[in-house]
Amino acid sequence: AEERAALREKIKRLLIERNAVLVAHYYTDPEIQALAEETGGCVSDSLEMARFGRDHAAATLVVAGVKFMGETAKILSPEKRVLMPTLEATCSLDIGCPIDEFSAFCDEHPDRTVVVYANTSAAVKARADWVVTSSIALDVVDYLDSEGEKILWAPDKHLGDYVRRETGADVLLWDGACIVHEEFKAQGILDLKKVYPDAAVLVHPESPASVVALADMVGSTTQIINAARDLPNKQMIVATDQGIFYKLQQLVPDKEFIIAPTAGSGATCRSCANCPWMAMNALDNLAAVLESGSNEVFVDPELGVQAMKPLTRMLDFAA
Ligand code: 13P
Ligand code: SF4
Repeated sequence: AEERAALREKIKRLLIERNAVLVAHYYTDPEIQALAEETGGCVSDSLEMARFGRDHAAATLVVAGVKFMGETAKILSPEKRVLMPTLEATCSLDIGCPIDEFSAFCDEHPDRTVVVYANTSAAVKARADWVVTSSIALDVVDYLDSEGEKILWAPDKHLGDYVRRETGADVLLWDGACIVHEEFKAQGILDLKKVYPDAAVLVHPESPASVVALADMVGSTTQIINAARDLPNKQMIVATDQGIFYKLQQLVPDKEFIIAPTAGSGATCRSCANCPWMAMNALDNLAAVLESGSNEVFVDPELGVQAMKPLTRMLDFAA
């Protein structure tokens, strides 16, 4: 415990010395989220992380999350130094959407407006007309549909399918999924509902349609947190990464949060609903990169200029 306290103090000191700010996602370790809050950084969903990083005056952004979040920060602020506690933290959606195949898919459908999820590489973003996060995917596609546009959506098929059902837009889907959310099971939630009949079900839209169908509320991590605060229910079954429980318990201490069951749920499952890549961010590698300046994120400048356009479109649309 003493060692961890010393590490935290070291990180706080280094953030000041290096003119750096910590930008963390809700799925990271609670210790990292707490540090980001204490030091004037941000803990948020992917949309707000992008905006915060772009608008903050610090010369260095330390992004605790996964690769696409660091790349997004760099694309939006090419003049800033962007560091990550680990450069190995990726995302199954990003991995499942390689640029060559994706580009060929787009070429086959030139009549469609290309909308990609933020959970993609810089190259995929550079090929897109729009980038969206889960918090504004519905609004953007609704708008594009009202303009009569047909959509090519990548990479998350569950989120894309949800958006298609909700908006009625003509949406062609790429076949990708999040390995964390894809594991939530409708039957498990139905079983839990027998134990907690008054619980509200809060679901991230990267979950399968059968799980979304049981939801009282569907939304991004920030939207889930807001719903947990605003809904009258005293118990909430939550279908998203467990990292979010830190913020939920902090903001809504009088309510009970229950993780939605996954394939591997049960007494033996300690890492269920916990993104293995998000979990690679820790106090020790965070302190190490701040000290050494290593793990800097670079984006090919030409790709960055291209990718900045749909990212800026997203932030302007959300404003
Ligand atoms: P949001 O925080 O934007 O809801 O994104 C969820 C996610 O899976 C990020 O990895
Ligand atoms: Fe990607 Fe899913 Fe992990 Fe988010 S939780 S980084 S979408 S694998």
